[in-house]
Amino acid sequence: MRLIHYAMIAALAAAPVQAHSGATGIVKTRMDAMKEMREAMRGLGMMTRGMMPYDAELQARAVDILLTHAPEIEDWFPEESLGGDSEALPLIAVERDAFNAIAVEFENSSRALADATTLEEAQPLIQAVSDTCSSCHRRYQDD
Ligand code: HEC
Repeated sequence: MRLIHYAMIAALAAAPVQAHSGATGIVKTRMDAMKEMREAMRGLGMMTRGMMPYDAELQARAVDILLTHAPEIEDWFPEESLGGDSEALPLIAVERDAFNAIAVEFENSSRALADATTLEEAQPLIQAVSDTCSSCHRRYQDD
């Protein structure tokens, strides 16, 4: 399954990049996945703010989504897909190693969250995940 997925990404990466609203190919792939990650973070955020009780199953599902996508990030931003109508800045290609390092940090913090068993344990770990989302967006997303 994973092999097929990577083959698809490679094929899609060669497709022309189109306007953000009608994004196709790798741009659509990464936007859809980022939105899925935002949904996962939303549930976790509601728990940390006490809007719902601690829910280990919700946490496990969210971590699963984050850990599915984290290792894919480094394949989502080929140089020809940056800039233009995309919010992904061309700086990503210039600073590829630093960009990938944030993706790894994101993966590690998501994995750490998997071990939390109480709200008290989960709160700082959720914050750490959220901080890696923000630090990447601050530098590499144009919005
Ligand atoms: C290593 C860098 C990196 C990490 C980590 C990262 N993002 Fe992103 N994200 C980006 C970039 C770059 C874009 C712009 C993509 C584009 O417009 O093509 C983006 C776009 C988005 C978008 C907008 C998608 C759209 O439809 O326009 C959302 C939502 C988002 N990210 C959520 C998240 C969340 C939530 C996390 C953490 C759980 C996260 N991202 C982690 C780099 C990152």
